[in-house]
Amino acid sequence: MNSTAEVAVIGGTGFYSFLDDVEEHAVETPYGATSAPIAVGEVAGRRVAFLPRHGRHHEFPPHAIPYRANLWALRALGVRQVLAPCAVGGLTHDVAPGDLVVPDQLVDRTHRRISSYVETGAVHLPFADPYCPGVAGALAAADPDVRSGGAMVVIEGPRFSTRAESQRYAESGGTLINMTGAPEAALAREQRLCYAALALVTDMDAGAESGAGVGQEEVFALFRANLERLTGLLARAVAALPDPAGCSCSTWADGIDLTYDVP
Ligand code: ADE
Repeated sequence: MNSTAEVAVIGGTGFYSFLDDVEEHAVETPYGATSAPIAVGEVAGRRVAFLPRHGRHHEFPPHAIPYRANLWALRALGVRQVLAPCAVGGLTHDVAPGDLVVPDQLVDRTHRRISSYVETGAVHLPFADPYCPGVAGALAAADPDVRSGGAMVVIEGPRFSTRAESQRYAESGGTLINMTGAPEAALAREQRLCYAALALVTDMDAGAESGAGVGQEEVFALFRANLERLTGLLARAVAALPDPAGCSCSTWADGIDLTYDVP
């Protein structure tokens, strides 16, 4: 059985399978089990791993996702590039439900997650630009309607924001809001993976709409309605990914001893 993969897709809310004809791998990690066994198959001649972030039956809420195990396991399979679709709320009217956005910035407002593999030594990862330009570019080029840019604010959850919180995030420059983009992006960088998010706007957040606020049903329904479009886009992006060799996402730790490295 060939368990290696070069590319991974981490599915978000409402997105629990991607590939046909897969082999499943339960990868042991120093951080416990992954959200689900990792399915490995082929897309456009490339070995692709798929991992549903919340588990196959959405058993992990955002704050309980085993982010460290997930990224470590992907790296252990040989993955170098990660495409990370996720459901987001819109903080401003620059976006609307149904929009697909490749954000270029991240604001981490989470506060009770283990957000690093580093436990010893001087290892300070460069993170000014949290997403890989190569992977982000392939996602953006895969559909003419995809919008590029914008800051994604990541909240602790699992509750949605109050109207005042939401307005504050928008005033401070946020465009999108979600609950899973951190620490996933930073852990991917620590694992020297090329990583970019693909955000599907499922709702307008409380500060940007005058109604009753966000409900989980609208998030799931909007995601379901766009799943086919999203999977088609991801397949085209996988086919068009650039060669990751030499990308700064993978070279930033050259010469640094990463004690958490995959053997
Ligand atoms: N995920 C989808 N919509 C969201 C919202 N409005 N706030 C936080 N996370 C979300």
